Amino acid sequence: MNEILKVESLNAFYGRSQITFDIDFSVNPGEVAVVVGRNGVGKTTTLKSVMGYVDKKESRVFFKNQDISDLQPHRIAKSGLTFVPDNGGVFHNLSVEDNFKVSEREGAFSRDYVFELFPKIKNILKRKGAHLSGGERKMVGISKGLLMNPDMLIIDEPSEGLAPSLVKDIAAAINKLEEKISLIVADQNLAFILSIADRIYIMDGGRIKRSGTKEEIKKEEIEKFLAL
Ligand SMILES: Nc1ncnc2c1ncn2[C@@H]1O[C@H](COP(=O)(O)OP(=O)(O)O)[C@@H](O)[C@H]1O
Ligand SMILES: [Mg+2]
Repeated sequence: MNEILKVESLNAFYGRSQITFDIDFSVNPGEVAVVVGRNGVGKTTTLKSVMGYVDKKESRVFFKNQDISDLQPHRIAKSGLTFVPDNGGVFHNLSVEDNFKVSEREGAFSRDYVFELFPKIKNILKRKGAHLSGGERKMVGISKGLLMNPDMLIIDEPSEGLAPSLVKDIAAAINKLEEKISLIVADQNLAFILSIADRIYIMDGGRIKRSGTKEEIKKEEIEKFLAL
């Protein structure tokens, strides 16, 4: 297998209600795969079920050629997959610095690397998580994820609610990161998606409706699914 992550027939459930239907996707090493779709189509559920946070049935997930389908979430995280939730997953009662301390593991992604990626973070290290702006929370969330030194980072809605200049900062960071790590990003901002994606999966109603490389999928097609 060439892929770093391969998902086969992902059927995710909350209790008895099925949210995703036979989702297939894969990510190659060093690639950015973007899951696109309106609110409620099942993007977050898909990502969380890969991480083992949501129940799945008759589904297979392979990561680095290992079958992680039935592993507990902490084992999946340990195998090198890190999920950055849409709220950044920042602890509100801890300072940014202490948030980093909780996450830090040995590896190529150091605090210096994170400061290079998001220079603004240097100025807010002492601030409590509760007092961060939306944009700061997204940046600190991605940084925390990186400091865990995973092989793949899964980022949910990184551009959501951000001013255009911050959206550009995040896109630049993701494009820089791509040389060092594989990424899955779920998002709805067309310009942002087009500026980061190598591969695109369009979701609607819990299913993948269209997939391909950025070159294969027309901008209008993405727009159509986002507008539905
Ligand atoms: N914890 C939950 N329990 C039950 N249903 C949920 C839960 N979280 C999300 N859903 C439902 O699952 C569907 C997909 O939601 P979600 O994966 O969050 O979509 P997206 O991330 O694309 O906005 C929605 O219909 C939503 O209401
Ligand atoms: Mg979501």
